[in-house]
Amino acid sequence: MLFDSHAHYDDEKFNPDREELLDRLFAEGLTGFLNSASDERSSEAALEIVHNRSGAFCSAGVHPHEASNVTSGWERRIESLLNEDKCVALGEIGLDYHYDFSPREVQKEVFRTQMAIAAEKDIPVIIHDREAHADVLEIIREFPSVRGVMHSFSGSAETAEILVSLGWYISFSGSLTFKNAQKTVLAAAAVPIDRLLTETDAPYLAPVPCRGVRNDSGLMKHTVQRLAEIRGKNFEEIASAAANNAYRLFRIAK
Ligand code: NI
Repeated sequence: MLFDSHAHYDDEKFNPDREELLDRLFAEGLTGFLNSASDERSSEAALEIVHNRSGAFCSAGVHPHEASNVTSGWERRIESLLNEDKCVALGEIGLDYHYDFSPREVQKEVFRTQMAIAAEKDIPVIIHDREAHADVLEIIREFPSVRGVMHSFSGSAETAEILVSLGWYISFSGSLTFKNAQKTVLAAAAVPIDRLLTETDAPYLAPVPCRGVRNDSGLMKHTVQRLAEIRGKNFEEIASAAANNAYRLFRIAK
């Protein structure tokens, strides 16, 4: 089993060969993927990509980078996409204080609005948190009924343990394989096996030994292998645990 819990196949880097690539990945053993959205347009594009493909699912939501670009009525349009069977999560949402593409107050407002939608619709969320751990945790605590996953986790083992105690899942990407990933490695060792997910964040974050190339779900094996080494398990144990955890979180029937 190999489920990529976070990829962006709506990205223009996949325009030349999107369908052939996905056909090949499934033929080579990919079990499924979740196409994460980043704004209104990509939420619609994500649904288009997955709607006829078995094993493929999507999310809808507004990324913190795009928080200041929302247009009137965006909340209702995201809500209506969330009614689609293939749309299994709200995301990616959160805060990004590394790039600060949107003012922080606007990021927080759009994040809170979407957490409220998730609470009302009882749908899991996908969180993007870059250098904003304290504020993300504060907002998560404001919505105690909402569960979700911290995608491409970059926090400490302590933060991971707090999130797990709140009922959340932690997802590891190719950044776990990078040379400077010591802190992420400690977090990857600390997360209980029934709470970890694996992802590519394709086309970004290609793992070692493929750093710098266009990432896709076929390269997730390097991240799974690294997790297996860190935790003293074999590849299949990690891959199937991560896939089953994703199905449980996103309420996908096997
Ligand atoms: Ni992403």
